[in-house]
Amino acid sequence: MKKLASFLFVAALTAALALVGCSGGSGPSEGGAPAAAPQASAPAGGVTLPAGLDEGPRAGESPVDEAKAALGEKLFQTKGCSACHAFGKKVTGPDLAGVAKRRTAKWIESQILHPDLMTKQDPIAKDLFAKFMLQMPNQKLTPDEAAAVVEYFKQKDR
Ligand code: HEC
Repeated sequence: MKKLASFLFVAALTAALALVGCSGGSGPSEGGAPAAAPQASAPAGGVTLPAGLDEGPRAGESPVDEAKAALGEKLFQTKGCSACHAFGKKVTGPDLAGVAKRRTAKWIESQILHPDLMTKQDPIAKDLFAKFMLQMPNQKLTPDEAAAVVEYFKQKDR
């Protein structure tokens, strides 16, 4: 009985030391307990955006879905976008005239859905942030809504 107790004590001590070692970042856990995610390698914002968002054809190169564009226009007015953006002039955010000609649909959707991550991880958004010195807020659109706004931009640029 005494032997078992001291074995358990040693086992517990070993486990405790292993955990301390892990939180110090000195190596992978071998004790079976999942180690905390290492902070140093976490990307800015905690989530990594997919690579190559602005690779491929520009948004405006595909045909416009007129029904979605109409919904997109409504969303642009009601979701706060028009407070900062216009077409053909700069307000507090970039002039959106020509945006469907200069960006891919995926890039624009990502800018709408994750503006905070974009200014930290995407080179184009980083440059815009440096120029406008204002972080575009996340207006909480769904992916479908963001896609509809892209159709609206495509329609404006046709
Ligand atoms: C508070 C002002 C503000 C609001 C509200 C806002 N934006 Fe922005 N937007 C910006 C700024 C500033 C940038 C430049 C990136 C940055 O600094 O965050 C930007 C960048 C963009 C871009 C990229 C422009 C380019 O030239 O590539 C798009 C597209 C865009 N916004 C669309 C939207 C849409 C759609 C909405 C509504 C859902 C919206 N924005 C709401 C300020 C705003």
